[in-house]
Amino acid sequence: MERSVVLTADGSSSVFVPYFDEYYHSVHGALQESVHVFIDAGFLFKINNSKELSILEIGFGTGLNTFLTFLEAEKYNAKIDYVTIEKFPLERNIYEALHFNTITDDANKQARFMSMHTIDWNKKSKVNTHFYLTKLHIDVLDFKASNMFDIIYFDAFAPTAQKELWTTAVFTAMYDALKNEGVLVTYCAKGEVKRILKSVGFVVQSLPGPIGKREMTRAIKLNK
Ligand SMILES: C[S@@+](CC[C@H](N)C(=O)[O-])C[C@H]1O[C@@H](n2cnc3c(N)ncnc32)[C@H](O)[C@@H]1O
Repeated sequence: MERSVVLTADGSSSVFVPYFDEYYHSVHGALQESVHVFIDAGFLFKINNSKELSILEIGFGTGLNTFLTFLEAEKYNAKIDYVTIEKFPLERNIYEALHFNTITDDANKQARFMSMHTIDWNKKSKVNTHFYLTKLHIDVLDFKASNMFDIIYFDAFAPTAQKELWTTAVFTAMYDALKNEGVLVTYCAKGEVKRILKSVGFVVQSLPGPIGKREMTRAIKLNK
């Protein structure tokens, strides 16, 4: 699949994919978007109650969310079991050109960015003593789990590009995959998506979005 590296407004890079006519992140800033939506509204929302979290990501892509979570978890000495799903893995020349390793000055941590990309698919791997990573090279439509995750980073391409990933069936699977009080966070704030999230049982919160977007969504599973 043809893809190219682009520069976004906060100086961080991202990827453009002509097939979907989509960017992997906001053009207003890839790094600021990932930190705002996934780390601040997802990871930091849950980490206060637990030093152990299991996280599911839909769309490994550039590995930015995975690497940011690793760096944040180090600050809390938190133990993370991270599962990420990707149907179209990036080629090496693309993920190398992103330079996301330079988000940190720590050379040892920088090396973890590359190892996150080079570890085997479909196998649980140890990134360090606190961070375990499983990259599943599958279609999210084929993923099923029950009561396993504290957080879901739902980072698929937009509904306009991939409407088959923003359906009642997919969000029912996401709801089932979460533990009670688990949260799903996404940059998407479309009314139709929020209606589907509510209809499958989530309590839905509209939160201020990252720079360039008015809102984002956090959906919480609360067993009755
Ligand atoms: C918006 S990008 C975000 C990627 C990633 N979270 C990041 O920070 O780079 C969406 C990702 O979902 C992947 N994807 C698209 N369709 C998919 C599918 N049906 N199943 C699994 N992954 C898919 C794309 O290849 C892409 O990597």
